[in-house]
This record gives sequence, structure tokens and C-alpha cells, in this order.
Amino acid sequence: MPQQELRELYIDELKDLYNAENQLVKALPKMAKAANSDELRNGFEEHLEQTKGHVQRLEQIFEMLGESPKGKKCKGMEGLIEEGSEMIEEDFEGSVRDAGLIGAAQRVEHYEIAVYGTVKAFAETLGETEHVSLIEQTLQEEKETDEKLTELAEQINSQATSEAEQGEGEDARSSKKLTTAGKSKKRVA
Ligand SMILES: [Fe+2]
Repeated sequence: MPQQELRELYIDELKDLYNAENQLVKALPKMAKAANSDELRNGFEEHLEQTKGHVQRLEQIFEMLGESPKGKKCKGMEGLIEEGSEMIEEDFEGSVRDAGLIGAAQRVEHYEIAVYGTVKAFAETLGETEHVSLIEQTLQEEKETDEKLTELAEQINSQATSEAEQGEGEDARSSKKLTTAGKSKKRVA
């Protein structure tokens, strides 16, 4: 592939990613608001701050390239966020809702990990070493977030199971108590 064409593709992918991260900045506060457990809510809020940093790193890359970051809409992220919103609208409560939110958030993380992996490889091929280090930092944060979500899911899924075993007579408030009672010091980044 000629270098110039790869460069164009690289910029296209970065624009897509820039739009994806900005969509996520808008979606994460809604995910945080919908979370039942304090720990999950804090996790989403922390990841919101990290995501703003991801936007800034991409802006730095665009500045170095002398290109505008605007001009693309990431349909992949749009679909993932839409599925997350549908999850929020469902009737699930307590830990079951949290388990659904974690599932939606992990889909987002895996998508971002895939795209950052791609642009990192392009940046390496193009000899853009400064870009590679910025991309690598974000990629690490996305991976750490995914791992923390997995840890949180293990905890929340077992709570969801015990809530389900208690039958349908339980109201939302008592579900909430059950969820927050089991929280540990682990945090989602
Ligand atoms: Fe991100």
C-alpha cells in the first residue's frame, strides 16, 4: 500500500475515533446515572474523565498532523451507545440492571481497543513515534477499564443471581440495599 494512501486511511480512522470518543463523553453521564451500585457509578464517572483525556490526546495528534479532527460519524459507537440506552430503558432493576450496563460498557471498550490497536499499527508503519506513544497510553487505559469492568461484573453478577433467587416480590429499594452492601474497594477506572 502506498504510504500516502495509508496516511489518508490513518487520518480517516482517527477522525472516526475522535467522533466515537466524543459520543462516549455524552453517553457516560447517562450510564452513571442509571447505575445502581455506587461502585459502578463511580467507575463510569472516572472513565468519563479518562475519556475526556482520550479526546485531548487525539486532538494533540491532529495538531501534529495539521488536520482537523472533525468530519466523520462513528456508526459503530452510535450503535453501541444506542444499545446501552435501550438497556437503560428496560425494566431490569438493581444488580441485574448493573450487569446489563456492564455488558454494554464492555462492548464499547472492546470496540475502542480494536480501533486503537489498528491506528497504533498504522502510526508505527508511518513512523509516527509520538503518535504511537499517545495511542499506547489510551489503549492501556481502555484495557485497564475493561479488566476492572470484568472484576466488577463477577461481583455484580453473583448479586444479580441472589436477587433473582429471592423472587419477584422484592422492590427496587431493597434490591439497591443488597447491591451496595457487598461493595469492596475495587474501582473501575
Ligand atoms: Fe476512550
